[in-house]
Amino acid sequence: MISHVEPSSVPLIRAVGISRVFGKGSAAVHALNGADLHIPAKRLIALRGRSGSGKTTLINILGTLDRPTDGQVYFDGIDLGLLSERRRNELRRTRMGLIFQSFGLVSLMTAYENVEFGLRIAGVKPELHKPYAERALDLVGLKGRMKHRPFEMSGGEQQRVAIARAIAHKPSLILADEPTAELDSKMGLQVMRAFQVLVKEEGITVILTTHDPAIMSIADHVYTLEDGRIVEET
Ligand SMILES: Nc1ncnc2c1ncn2[C@@H]1O[C@H](COP(=O)(O)OP(=O)(O)O)[C@@H](O)[C@H]1O
Ligand SMILES: [Mg+2]
Repeated sequence: MISHVEPSSVPLIRAVGISRVFGKGSAAVHALNGADLHIPAKRLIALRGRSGSGKTTLINILGTLDRPTDGQVYFDGIDLGLLSERRRNELRRTRMGLIFQSFGLVSLMTAYENVEFGLRIAGVKPELHKPYAERALDLVGLKGRMKHRPFEMSGGEQQRVAIARAIAHKPSLILADEPTAELDSKMGLQVMRAFQVLVKEEGITVILTTHDPAIMSIADHVYTLEDGRIVEET
């Protein structure tokens, strides 16, 4: 039978009752407490919540950097809990891109070299490095800055280089933990515009955490975390 389900309506991520406990006994911290999550593909998703509500823990688990104590996470229908560590690392390297608050660029490398470095780590064939890196820098509006090093660029431009590096290998999912926290509001919006282009033109799904209401207003959906649970979706 032909399926009538639209590809975009299949969730890219589904998390069912995930918990994450750090430590043991009376010192145990319940960072996540039975969180459920349903993330459609090709959307810009903001995750908000007070400091300590579990945002970073959730991003790390979705990005296969950490595992839940309890519950299941499905990425594109794959149960992450059933994968070996090697397969999880491969999935992360090939299908995901991670972005952090502090950009994480190599200061001695140009923008182009930083992006190419990411392609090497992702295992992309050398002959594809140039077209992929140039395309990624073009998508974030930095084609004219390829030869600049991080110290020659603004914070917003540096974060966009980090985004180019995270998307150059054509992942399906970008996870960004407070990517605009160190930027002023104008640069934060530049970075958000770059994310919007990726969702619209490349069909990438972006999940980011933020405290900033202006950033949330740009997202397609906002999920609110409270005490390790998703309490609201809009
Ligand atoms: N490695 C860890 N060891 C112990 N506690 C942790 C660890 N990571 C996070 N926590 C705790 O889990 C809770 C959620 O943290 P986190 O996910 O970083 O929240 P957020 O990113 O929303 O600020 C906090 O109480 C934090 O102190
Ligand atoms: Mg955090």
